[in-house]
Amino acid sequence: MIMNQAIIKNIDVLQEDYLPEKIIGRKKEIESIASSIRPLFYNKPMINLFLHGRTGTGKTSVIRYIIREVSKETSRIKGIYVNCWMDDTTYAVLLRIAEVLHPTMRLAKIKRSNAEILDLINFKKGNTKVFVVLDEVDKLKSDEILYMLSREGYGLIMISNYNIALNKLDRRVRSSLSYIDIEFEPYDYEDLYNILKERSKYAFYEGAFPEPFLKVAAKNAKGDARVGISIIRNAALFAEQQGKKKVDREDLLKALKSVKGAKEQELEKELKGKTKKIYEIVKGLGEADAKEISRIYKERFGEDIHERTLRYYLQELVEKGLIETKGEKRWKKYSSLI
Ligand SMILES: Nc1ncnc2c1ncn2[C@@H]1O[C@H](COP(=O)(O)OP(=O)(O)OP(=O)(O)O)[C@@H](O)[C@H]1O
Ligand SMILES: [Mg+2]
Repeated sequence: MIMNQAIIKNIDVLQEDYLPEKIIGRKKEIESIASSIRPLFYNKPMINLFLHGRTGTGKTSVIRYIIREVSKETSRIKGIYVNCWMDDTTYAVLLRIAEVLHPTMRLAKIKRSNAEILDLINFKKGNTKVFVVLDEVDKLKSDEILYMLSREGYGLIMISNYNIALNKLDRRVRSSLSYIDIEFEPYDYEDLYNILKERSKYAFYEGAFPEPFLKVAAKNAKGDARVGISIIRNAALFAEQQGKKKVDREDLLKALKSVKGAKEQELEKELKGKTKKIYEIVKGLGEADAKEISRIYKERFGEDIHERTLRYYLQELVEKGLIETKGEKRWKKYSSLI
């Protein structure tokens, strides 16, 4: 080996898509999800779910954990995970499901109609009970797939950062689709500390990552486990790059800085269209009420924005953690957080 790596024992456990053996601090959520899936074990339809919460609150991990646990228990029930950010059309989602159920077939080679793929899926699943997880469901180009799958009797678990993601569903879809809401609250300090502590046991050599630094990382993660993990990963990488045997204060501070910058950039980059315009206004004003924001909106972009539409976008920004609200109803004020 060229470099003597004294700190990181296993970088894999610090990667984005690593699914930990143990899920910490989500007992209640796991139990709710398990009980909604349970009817499948008795050949009954499951209860559809909508999981929502801010980024890094463990939604994806919890659901992948559940799919894994179910598959350990039985092969009669299968959870299929789809990330709608990657597969954002009805066709792409159907194809993904078909590929999971039929891994050896080169489906993409022959272009088929949606109905044909659906038939194939129905045929392939045979007696298996299938539930489909649609992660980042708000990224779907059309809500047709929800209607299609629920009509065919597939259980649905939808996931989003926004609790209002399903509000814009077509009426036809909404009336045919009943679901239960589960909110993933940001982690508290204690949970984050435990998550980081557990992860660091696998990631670092003993003593290479001082315990008090884990606490600092947990504090600075602000309820987001992904941020917490990035902090400890970056700190360890900075230390290793300089050939240190142990993470020190300087590495930690550098990591805190890098992660904070990255988070802001990522959030801002994701903003599009009206949401972006509104965010810029709030940011410029520091603090303002809806009336003021809509006045400036009109002035700047020469078009009216309906109050309900405006509140919808403002709520989206609140959920992203970019702005916060103070006061109630008519006196509600919005201010920019970063
Ligand atoms: N309860 C937990 N126990 C252990 N690790 C966790 C837990 N929750 C989250 N993590 C870790 O934090 C990271 C982010 O979690 P995850 O991707 O599940 O969040 P998310 O809610 O899906 O976020 P997003 O909304 O951005 O998709 C993952 O690397 C995961 O391993
Ligand atoms: Mg996720």
